[in-house]
Amino acid sequence: MLQEGKLYIGTSRKPDDSINKGEYLELKFGNRHGLITGATGTGKTVTLQILAEGFSNAGVPVFCADVKGDLSGIGAMGEPKDFLLKRAEQIGLSPYDFQEFPVIFWDLYGEKGHRVRTTISEMGPLLLSRLMNASDAQEGVLNIAFKIADEGGLPLLDLKDLQALLNYMGENAGELSNQFGFISKSSVGSIQRELLILEQQGAEHFFGEPALKITDIMRTTNDGRGAISVLAADKLMMNPRLYTTFLLWLLSELFEELPEVGDPDKPKLVFFFDEAHLLFNDAPKVLVERVEQVVRLIRSKGVGVYFVTQNPLDVPETVLAQLGNRVQHALRAYSPREQKAVKTAADTFRPNPDFNCAEVITNLGTGEALISTLEGKGSPSIVERTLIRPPASRLGPLTEAERQKVIDVSPVRGLYDENFDRESAYELLAKRAAKAAEQAEAARQAEEQSAEETSGGGRWTLPGFGDDEQKEPSGKQARPRSSGYQRETIVEAAMKSVARTVATQVGRALVRGILGSLKR
Ligand SMILES: Nc1ncnc2c1ncn2[C@@H]1O[C@H](COP(=O)(O)OP(=O)(O)O)[C@@H](O)[C@H]1O
Ligand SMILES: [Mg+2]
Repeated sequence: MLQEGKLYIGTSRKPDDSINKGEYLELKFGNRHGLITGATGTGKTVTLQILAEGFSNAGVPVFCADVKGDLSGIGAMGEPKDFLLKRAEQIGLSPYDFQEFPVIFWDLYGEKGHRVRTTISEMGPLLLSRLMNASDAQEGVLNIAFKIADEGGLPLLDLKDLQALLNYMGENAGELSNQFGFISKSSVGSIQRELLILEQQGAEHFFGEPALKITDIMRTTNDGRGAISVLAADKLMMNPRLYTTFLLWLLSELFEELPEVGDPDKPKLVFFFDEAHLLFNDAPKVLVERVEQVVRLIRSKGVGVYFVTQNPLDVPETVLAQLGNRVQHALRAYSPREQKAVKTAADTFRPNPDFNCAEVITNLGTGEALISTLEGKGSPSIVERTLIRPPASRLGPLTEAERQKVIDVSPVRGLYDENFDRESAYELLAKRAAKAAEQAEAARQAEEQSAEETSGGGRWTLPGFGDDEQKEPSGKQARPRSSGYQRETIVEAAMKSVARTVATQVGRALVRGILGSLKR
């Protein structure tokens, strides 16, 4: 079943159920994306597993999310269960060898794998707005926040950095509005409340440093196999927006960081996007357009994106049109929507004169699918009714102990396990505030001295640095000018000094890509 440059998916059958031929995915078309669909329990995850195995064996690193915990078994040797042996025999897979795969476990919560983090700055305003389900007004404020941070060189690493910046914006709304566009205080407040909710949902784990380096999901082993990165997503799925935003961020990182390679012999990385309907569910139009754009363009970086979802209608037409390799498991066709899905799925295939696609889709068995892959110069093959091969690795989860063993010997062990908290917006703004307070205090003392000579006293305050509750200076003293002057220099100086910090620490110009993450 091994063929040069091809990945064996399964064996198709003729109308009389006799063996037709092996069905393959050509590695050189692996970056032309794919789609795995089917109702619950029809075999999508197993198909994902055997594709990941095939890519890994071909030296292609894989990234996938483990939504139910049942994909972790890919890190262990398969076992000769009866139904698996039967399937192997049915499709003429001989010998049926077992194999364990090089797996790296990741987990946003750091419980079931290495921590994955990114920074607020890297994520950018578009994805963050999506994560927070922000209204247009809130999104406007977030855009300004990133503008202030990007232009002023304030690194936004974690949620508290963004909180600090929003505080600063709220307190200086008037002044900043002149410079950056209208900042509504109430929108600032509502974003801050949203951030608190995110924090309570555990998103704080995800924002910070060290941020994931994409080279760590593109590793290969000494014997030339691609590492399979498995993201623990069972807990993550309780927060679907965090799940989809994270995967989108990763996709956009890959897109921004990887060089153009045109059409390589085999992909540089294959990325499985499970539960893809969550990505497109009531997603704003602009986001869907950007996703479509990234999916279209990332192909020339050698990345194949495979969406996994129940229903082909879950994926917008413009994205669907880019998915060259298709595995359609069984669909039900009771409700009108389901019937429409069956028809859509059937219509996207290059027909096979031997059978009626729509009819077969509703009658496919478990682990059986309609398959069409790209062939020749890149056109879809005639659809075939195919029994998917059984996996070589274990079908079912690893035990806790097995998982821990994998984590302990992982090549990224120790790289992501500790947080570091370098100087970022929170600290910088706190410093700014402290400095302002100091200067205010010095000025106050000077004032007091001179006031002793004239009359009264009354301390002046610096708006926006925590002193607002204090009474404004009264009447005739010539303070507005001096405080205006102070304010300007503090903001300017801080912006400049921080710009230098960012230039050296982050080492890149803050230019944002299609999905708003930072370009290198
Ligand atoms: N290719 C296959 N070979 C053998 N058994 C399979 C295969 N695909 C699916 N199965 C069986 O069907 C069950 C459900 O498949 P799964 O991939 O988890 O479904 P889904 O992800 O669509 O909900 C598996 O646990 C396994 O027992
Ligand atoms: Mg599944």
